[in-house]
Amino acid sequence: MRILAISGSPRKGNAERLIEEAIKGANESGANRTIDFVPLRTLSFTGCCGWDECYYKGECRINDQMKRTVYPKLLSADGFLFATPNYFNNMSGLMKNFFDRTNPFALKKRLSGKKAAIIVVGGQKDSSLRKCEGTIREFCRIHEIKVVGSARITADRIGDAEKNKKAMKKCKELGKRLAKHI
Ligand SMILES: Cc1cc2nc3c(=O)[nH]c(=O)nc-3n(C[C@H](O)[C@H](O)[C@H](O)COP(=O)(O)O)c2cc1C
Repeated sequence: MRILAISGSPRKGNAERLIEEAIKGANESGANRTIDFVPLRTLSFTGCCGWDECYYKGECRINDQMKRTVYPKLLSADGFLFATPNYFNNMSGLMKNFFDRTNPFALKKRLSGKKAAIIVVGGQKDSSLRKCEGTIREFCRIHEIKVVGSARITADRIGDAEKNKKAMKKCKELGKRLAKHI
């Protein structure tokens, strides 16, 4: 069973801390797990070039780390953990660039049937985070990825999420939940 965990913050902050906790939860939930963690900030990749031939051909023309390293992990994973900071009630630019780069897999539904759990973290109240979560759910719907759970966490400065024991527990449980579904 393979899980691909992707975090979309440009800093080593709350989203990364929370996804680490979810990974711990998934790891605790049984044997034979392979969990890859990809913080997008560590990758060298560009946003979509907009050519859109990828949609029909199933092949991206940009030969970077997204294509070489992440695509094989995306296709072989059974489940995804997605964590993003909330930026203007939406996902971060890094996360959006990653989602856009999944266009080669959209037409033939090559991610269909996989499972996902979503973590959204932001400094504002829950209603602000809900909109962000909604756009990620929409991405999953288009790819026919089944969302098995989510966590919306209010945290702003680096270290805030870590201090919030309830939030940490919630993310750990979310990781366990994902592992149980795959
Ligand atoms: C450009 C920018 C826009 C932001 N917009 C929002 C927002 O609309 N709503 C919100 O709740 N937090 C917003 N925040 C705060 C971050 O979501 C918050 O600091 C979060 O904890 C960052 O996660 P990180 O530590 O993983 O980077 C914004 C932060 C930045 C840098």
